Amino acid sequence: MSLLSVDNIFVYYQDALILNDVSLEIQSGEVVCLLGRNGVGKTTLLRSIIGLTPPRNGSISLDGIRISGRPPYSIVKRGIGYVPQGREIFPELTVEENLKTGAFINPGWKPEINGAVFEYFPFLKTRLKEKGGRLSGGQQQMLAIARAMSGGPQLMILDEPTEGIQPSIIQEIFDIVRDLNMKTGLTILLVEQNIDFALKLSSRGYILEKGQIVSKGKVDELKEDFIVKNYLMI
Ligand SMILES: Nc1ncnc2c1ncn2[C@@H]1O[C@H](COP(=O)(O)OP(=O)(O)OP(=O)(O)O)[C@@H](O)[C@H]1O
Ligand SMILES: [Mg+2]
Repeated sequence: MSLLSVDNIFVYYQDALILNDVSLEIQSGEVVCLLGRNGVGKTTLLRSIIGLTPPRNGSISLDGIRISGRPPYSIVKRGIGYVPQGREIFPELTVEENLKTGAFINPGWKPEINGAVFEYFPFLKTRLKEKGGRLSGGQQQMLAIARAMSGGPQLMILDEPTEGIQPSIIQEIFDIVRDLNMKTGLTILLVEQNIDFALKLSSRGYILEKGQIVSKGKVDELKEDFIVKNYLMI
């Protein structure tokens, strides 16, 4: 059984059809990327998974249990860590408070931060009392990932984690996300426009164009795919 199964969803903003019959599956332990140009609906798909833009038709299941139609807090409590586009850390909250906001998704909720967070992001431990807004862009991105980790999710969803991040930090983020997958078995759904980053990290991928999946497959196959070659220009 798939960990995440998105089945034929149709998503609208008012009358505008944004996702048109989209399906996607992720097995436990996989890293899967979702690629596509600006405005094709990548973020909308992630928001649909966590219940912020529920599908009008179709369904979404996590671990075989239907989650679509439930409110977002109840969906993320089933074990989804969300790293939103643009990071959206709370700039006026401290680093520690930011991390605690992520911990609430744990069913046995305690206002405690999962210690593993500091193994992956040791710098955060020295900056716990600082406001999130004082961190650099790359550090804020790491805080957003750490916040998503702190509830101990089974699935992490990352929306363009390299956007606006300098190359040296991109490599650091790459290593951390790969380690999270390899060492803890965390399943990852990654939205990226940085094709190189996405294809190196993932084993499978989907290409979204104007609200529809136009190609999918193993990363090696995708690289050979005509649509993808055109799109990726490789
Ligand atoms: N709140 C909203 N209300 C109405 N339309 C929206 C809203 N949010 C997004 N859209 C529209 O939905 C479409 C898909 O947007 P979405 O943000 O999902 O794309 P994206 O692939 O994530 O783009 P980007 O690469 O720029 O992040 C776009 O045409 C966008 O203008
Ligand atoms: Mg987006």
